[in-house]
Amino acid sequence: MKFFLDSADLEEIKEINSYGLLDGVTTNPTLIKRAVEKYGKIDLEAYIKKILKICRSKPVSLEIIGMSYGEIIKEARHLYKKFNSVAKNVIIKVPINVSENKRRGDSFQAIKAIQELSKEGIPINCTLIFTPEQAILSAKAGAFYASPYIGRVDDYLKEKNLLQDFGVKSGINAINKISEIFRREKVKTEILAASIRNRQHVREAFLNGAHIVTLPFKVFKEMLEHPKTFEGIKIFKRDTVLEYRKLFD
Ligand code: G3P
Repeated sequence: MKFFLDSADLEEIKEINSYGLLDGVTTNPTLIKRAVEKYGKIDLEAYIKKILKICRSKPVSLEIIGMSYGEIIKEARHLYKKFNSVAKNVIIKVPINVSENKRRGDSFQAIKAIQELSKEGIPINCTLIFTPEQAILSAKAGAFYASPYIGRVDDYLKEKNLLQDFGVKSGINAINKISEIFRREKVKTEILAASIRNRQHVREAFLNGAHIVTLPFKVFKEMLEHPKTFEGIKIFKRDTVLEYRKLFD
């Protein structure tokens, strides 16, 4: 059972790491944008190197931005060369399909690139997965991690007012199906549940077969909370008699 932090925020990464709970970090262009907005003008290369050093042996996913086979290969090799020497913990994140819609481009560009990069020994986190079929393709291509987007599957079904689509009833249901297929087929690719919105997602993702859950900072903190825990602490404090307190002297 592994926890990754879904964040490019250095303070958040440092804090969760200080609790001894961090198994890795996932970033993406949106999370990098948030960090840049928060910290202002930063030297992004130095900033990413700091993240890698803090995480040390724990994997950190860095995403490519290219839209074609050639670009993905070039960027992935470049990112890996530039950053993996820092702490030997870089995972390259590649979307399952880089086309913006059905009609545009060759949809299998990313799949081909994932195969090539995996053969070269560059570990790939295949991202933007919404269906078991996409997860199957990522695994066949040799991805190290497959990242289904739980919250966004739910958003999609809600937006379209659908009870299910692509045979998937929810983000968690997608995890369940992917896990069942990977288990039966003895697939090595690990399921990294992403787009986590709340603590129930965390529990359900693990219950349904995720190997890793990548959490936003807020959800990490929420997992510890319950009103009755707070209330219980107040009661224990109130009921601590002097005799008992003295035992600790
Ligand atoms: O790991 C993927 C994540 O950053 C996307 O989350 O909440 O924007 O769907 P969200």
